[in-house]
Amino acid sequence: MTFAGSAASPDQFPRDGLPEVAFLGRSNVGKSSLLNALAGVPKLAHVSSKPGRTRLVNFFRVGSEMYLADLPGYGYARVPREMREGWEALVTSYLVGRDPLALCVFLVDARHDPSEGDETLRRFLDRQELPYVLAATKVDTLGRGPAASRVKDLERGLGRKAWAVVGVSAESGEGLDSLWKTVRAAARHGRRED
Ligand code: GTP
Ligand code: MG
Repeated sequence: MTFAGSAASPDQFPRDGLPEVAFLGRSNVGKSSLLNALAGVPKLAHVSSKPGRTRLVNFFRVGSEMYLADLPGYGYARVPREMREGWEALVTSYLVGRDPLALCVFLVDARHDPSEGDETLRRFLDRQELPYVLAATKVDTLGRGPAASRVKDLERGLGRKAWAVVGVSAESGEGLDSLWKTVRAAARHGRRED
């Protein structure tokens, strides 16, 4: 996997038509960390303990297979409103009518109940009829029991319309094989319009 470029506006999105898989979720949920773990390259995408680090759509190319898109996170209150609206506009401009988009990976923190922002994103994805898997992140911080019961709750709740709900950890590697298989299968299946 290699960094393919950042986009601040739609004219900077890739144009070669490769399938794309988007990583979405609130700030600090672990999107960039998960991308790095999937790539096996620790510093490919920027990871930060400060939320709101990723402000552009960053594209990573997986050979001639697909792009993975790291989208800016939502739900970080301490940014000026106009800046937040700018990010939302960018994310929306990417998600609506993006023909190469094959799958969304929707991340939520396994330690917490879904937020208002998570529900808003779910409604948006459902309304747009975008396919998504729900990934519960940072399961290394929970015991097996609590992690499994979180996944069960998500299957019944936020993720009831998701293709799958999977517990993942960028730290321990848990769930990465399963997620990667789903991502690759979606990319092989190809562009949404096909
Ligand atoms: P934004 O770019 O701000 O939207 O954040 P992000 O979703 O890309 O999160 P990022 O990957 O930067 O990770 C945020 C914080 O969570 C960092 O301090 C990471 O080290 C931590 N983190 C990410 N994944 C894991 C994980 O699997 N386990 C644990 N324990 N911590 C994690
Ligand atoms: Mg990030």
